[in-house]
Amino acid sequence: MKIYHSIKDIQRDILAQKARGLSIGFVPTMGALHRGHLSLLERSVKENDISICSIFVNPIQFNHKQDLEKYPRSPEEDCKKLDNAGCDIVFAPSAGEMYPEEVKEHYDFGQIERVMEGEHRPGHFNGVAVVVKRLFDICMPHKAYFGEKDFQQLAIIKALVEQQNMSVEIMGCPIIREGDGLAMSSRNVRLSPEERSIAPAIFKTLNQIQQKAGQEPLQETIRKAKAYLNSLPGMKVEYIQITDEQSLMPVESWDDANQIRAFIALFLGDVRLIDNLKIIYGL
Ligand code: PAJ
Repeated sequence: MKIYHSIKDIQRDILAQKARGLSIGFVPTMGALHRGHLSLLERSVKENDISICSIFVNPIQFNHKQDLEKYPRSPEEDCKKLDNAGCDIVFAPSAGEMYPEEVKEHYDFGQIERVMEGEHRPGHFNGVAVVVKRLFDICMPHKAYFGEKDFQQLAIIKALVEQQNMSVEIMGCPIIREGDGLAMSSRNVRLSPEERSIAPAIFKTLNQIQQKAGQEPLQETIRKAKAYLNSLPGMKVEYIQITDEQSLMPVESWDDANQIRAFIALFLGDVRLIDNLKIIYGL
């Protein structure tokens, strides 16, 4: 496995691979890798000749300085995991390498960036779009892999590719969970043992929403879910939304859209967690 820190070096290598007609799969990450990340890489390894993983804690997508400072970092362990999982190339640039000058790009993705994460984390998706566009330009992948854990991010990336006429194919991958249902996240390591024992309530609540679908008014389900989660020690719900899976606009009732998905964002202590579940209803 090769590790590059400079854009020039990785590009030279990738251009050589492409000239040999090899297909390139790409998995962008911010490191502190877990099985969720590795599931994306494993899929890339299966579907491409060469798999690249980037590790870059992107400063411009954090809207709280503290969150950026406390973001877990484990570069050596990450590289071991990637090597074992069959990764060919790691790209781990510095902030100076990615952002030699002030960032000026402003993307507009319309409605989908104004709800949920977009509403609660101003500037977050612009920061994601800027870095992903640059990473795509550098790595020139045929396919790029993103988790449904960040479902709204996946929608933003698809919009970015369409808007910018990029030729990369975006592959959405399922959420990988711990045995007790907690969605894997780099931030989970920041939970205290007590918080960690409470955290599975998030997935439990998503499943309760699934069970209630069509059985009671949607607003009632949301209200109960919020009240339950807020009653747990240290939990503070930021939002619970049930949306049209395509437009990400909230639905008023269960049958307002063909495909709906439930989303939860909350703080557990000072750790922000998100999760979502496709709601299968009316089959
Ligand atoms: P990061 O949070 O490190 O996640 C990298 C990729 O792993 C994302 O596509 C995310 O959705 C996926 N992922 C995380 N947890 C997962 C899980 N439990 N199951 C499946 N996939 C999971 O998302 C980012 O980094 C950044 O915003 C990035 C796209 C790299 C841009 O900076």
